[in-house]
Parts: sequence; C-alpha cells; structure tokens
Amino acid sequence: MGDRVLMAPSILSADFTRLAEAVSLVEEAGADYIHVDVMDGHFVPNLTIGPPVVAALKKSCSIPLDVHLMIDNADETVGWYLDAGADLVTVHVEAVRHLHRVVQSIHAAGAKAGAVLNPATPVSLLRDILPDLDLVLLMSVNPGFGGQKFIEGVVGKTRRLAEMCAAAGVSPLIEIDGGINEETAPLVTAAGARVLVAGNAVFGASDPAAALKAIRAAGEGAIR
Ligand code: DX5
Ligand code: ZN
Repeated sequence: MGDRVLMAPSILSADFTRLAEAVSLVEEAGADYIHVDVMDGHFVPNLTIGPPVVAALKKSCSIPLDVHLMIDNADETVGWYLDAGADLVTVHVEAVRHLHRVVQSIHAAGAKAGAVLNPATPVSLLRDILPDLDLVLLMSVNPGFGGQKFIEGVVGKTRRLAEMCAAAGVSPLIEIDGGINEETAPLVTAAGARVLVAGNAVFGASDPAAALKAIRAAGEGAIR
C-alpha cells in the first residue's frame, strides 16, 4: 500500500453553470480524478447528470474521469458512460444484477472497474469479485446528496476491507465517498483508503484549491 493519497473532487458540489472552470481549478490544484456522480432518480432520490455531460467533461479535462453510477440499470447502460469517455466506472453492488459481467464489459472497453458498497452493505459480499476489481468504493454517507455527515462506521469497514484484500493477495485501491474533509480524511487513510472523494469540502470552500491540498495533506499525514 502506497503512502500517496489520490484526490477525486466531486463536481456535484460545483457550480453546474461553470463546470469547465471548476474542473480546471481542481486540475491545476493537483486533483488525480474528477469524480462524476450520476444519479437516476430511482436508485437514489436525486437526478443529476448523464452521458452527454460526461462526454463534455471528457473534452474539457485532462485527468481521468471517475464515474460513480448511482443508477438502477447499469447492466444495460454502462456502455453509454464508457463511450462518453469514463476512465474509471464504479457500480453499486446493490443495483447491478450481474456484477462480474458488468466488470468484464468495463475492462473490455479499456477502462478501470470498481464496485461500490452502501453504508449498510458488508464488505464480505465482494470476496469472490475482489481479484477482478481495480478499486472498491465505500460510501461513507447514503448516496444521493453532497454535504452530508460522515458515517463513522466506515472506518472499521475500511480496515476490514484492507485486511480482506491482504488475505486474498490483491490490492484494489480503496476509495471513500461522503463527508470527507480535513478531519475525516485521516481516519480513513489510516484504515487503508487511498482515494478520497470530496465535494462540499472542496467546492464549498472559499479557496477550493487550498482545501483540496489540505485534505490530501491531512490524509497523507495519517499514513504510517
Ligand atoms: C453522494 C455522492 C458523493 C458526493 C460527496 O451520493 O456520491 O460523491 O458528491 O459529497 P460530499 O463530499 O459533500 O459529502
Ligand atoms: Zn460519488
């Protein structure tokens, strides 16, 4: 496990009328991914962006797009996001019917594949798919909205996932999404997380670039 923390600012909390500016700002601040929250109004009680916006973002940014699908029908529509230029696609185990098949189709398109777990979903569900995953995303809020409070239980869950990966001899990146800020980042990186999503704590800050750097520094400071 490396000692670098990758930052994936979530544009859900950015100004949707000025997305290109938001993306440039965090890119210049050293962001590693742009985290794109796709919500369908069915799997989660909110509706956000779809393939055309992913394609537009792809044109206006040079770092990889981390596309988080919070949708019921990823089995049928994951190709839309791959065609739009997603570099990493994460799908919820609670929503897909054939996780292995979806992961295979993401890989066949040349992208990286990740599985997402809601706060109440146990990491044990991933045991047999772990070797096929590039990344596991643990939700530290119930998906649907930015600006929610971090759920502390994800810290122990992160540790259990890291142990499970070590026991299986695999090393997918562990990403955490929801309520990440300077205070919560060290809790999850100490437990094994290496990718941090942050929406409100970055785009809600008066200086988003400084906020991004401070969260990364706080996370890296906790890695022994
Ligand atoms: C929530 C989304 C998150 C959200 C995080 O459903 O998946 O990516 O943007 O926002 P913050 O960092 O504000 O909790
Ligand atoms: Zn997300």
